Amino acid sequence: MAAPPLLLDAQTRAQIWRKLVKAIEAYATKLETGRVTPPLDPAKLRAMLSRFDFSAPAEALEALDFLVEGLWKFQTHTPHPRYYGLFNPAPTTMGIAADALVAAFNPQLAAWSHSPLAIEIEQHLVRAFGARFGYDPAQTDGTFASGGMEANHTALLTALVQAFPEFSSRGLRALAAQPVLYVSAEAHHSLLKAARMCGLGTEAVREIPVEASLRMNAEILASRIAQDRGQGFAPFLVAATAGTTNAGAIDPLPAIAEVAAREKLWRHVDAAWGGAAALVPELRPLLDGIERADSITFDAHKWLSVPMGAGIYLTRHTDILDRTFRIAQTYMPREAAELDVVNPFVHSMQWSRRAIGLKVFLSLAVAGWEGYATAIRHMVAMGALLREQLEGSGWQVVNETPLPLCCFIDQRHAEGRSAAYLHAVAMKVVSSGKAWISTTRLAGSAPVLRACITNYRTSADDIAALIAALEEARGQLR
Ligand SMILES: Cc1ncc(COP(=O)(O)O)c(C=O)c1O
Repeated sequence: MAAPPLLLDAQTRAQIWRKLVKAIEAYATKLETGRVTPPLDPAKLRAMLSRFDFSAPAEALEALDFLVEGLWKFQTHTPHPRYYGLFNPAPTTMGIAADALVAAFNPQLAAWSHSPLAIEIEQHLVRAFGARFGYDPAQTDGTFASGGMEANHTALLTALVQAFPEFSSRGLRALAAQPVLYVSAEAHHSLLKAARMCGLGTEAVREIPVEASLRMNAEILASRIAQDRGQGFAPFLVAATAGTTNAGAIDPLPAIAEVAAREKLWRHVDAAWGGAAALVPELRPLLDGIERADSITFDAHKWLSVPMGAGIYLTRHTDILDRTFRIAQTYMPREAAELDVVNPFVHSMQWSRRAIGLKVFLSLAVAGWEGYATAIRHMVAMGALLREQLEGSGWQVVNETPLPLCCFIDQRHAEGRSAAYLHAVAMKVVSSGKAWISTTRLAGSAPVLRACITNYRTSADDIAALIAALEEARGQLR
């Protein structure tokens, strides 16, 4: 009898696993010899895919080859050491191994009884990361999430439930006043999206102006809250950012915590990228004040380099996730109550869920805190080198941050501050395939080039290659 097509026979499976392991190892070892960026040609991709109309089964090894070759050719290689981009890392080896195991064992993280080990591992990590941020592990709760977006969404929901308990059952229309929340003008836009998804609408998000350092102005925050109260709004949350997406700015956490405490507002810190500073003793003071947060967003798939996605929502309110997400039903397993453990499906947004924490667990278990501290220190040093080399070659770095992220303009070109010129430089670099950088606007107006290091494999040679690619782009635009 032929093997079922979804399982395949033992011999084919063995060939697939061998090919797979070879492909993964080749990607890890040969990646840096190739281009960072792919051709962007949707018509070509669609033509390639048109041969798959699924009417006849493809041969398994050929199908696998198709995907491996396709990913090599048609991907911006975010794990490449010269990808200077948006917090996307080279994945850890142990993270890749854990994710492969997760795909194979397919643990279901809805109910404790179905995945006791995976769920206890995640809770163990929640307490361990809580402790790094200064929470009391016995008073730390949290959940793994798809990423920072879901963690920030969870923060808004939990803050709403805390401030307006009737929100859970009766929704926003039961509230006497429109709830409003506060973020800096440089906060990540996932907070706006979360406001929309909570039914608050984006106008409920007050974007507080930043100082020249691109950090939230805590005095303006205080006066905006007073103004809102005077106009009948209901402030409920302040979200500070520790490591902004644009420029790596860290909001003044103690001053913001002070204002929020005085006003009795939920304090959230979005530390999706910058939170990793908590793993390095000499950088930890940058996050002082984070321990006062009611909730924290931290993404292990950013600076901890695990494969995407691995968001973490942490809180020191041990009952709030339950109050936000518990739903009564009769069909799910019931052992959790007897065992005094928590079922994740009543404790978080997702129901059926992939085991997200295992790739964090294996990576951390093998590297240890010290291994991570070393890797992060290296990236910070590469950031300092990049800053120094940019300035030595006529670029002006305009952001101030101890984190490895440079926003810069061209001092040697008459148009060196214009959005069009900077975009042209970025496009020249990207299309050369030698590196990936981007442009953005600081505080909503000033155009800059942006290069960030979130890759533990980025070396001094890679920095030199970026400087050379920038020089070449500048030369072509003269
Ligand atoms: C500060 C910050 N918060 C939240 C997010 C959203 O995280 P994710 O892309 O994992 O959903 C990002 C993404 O870059 C970010 O930089």
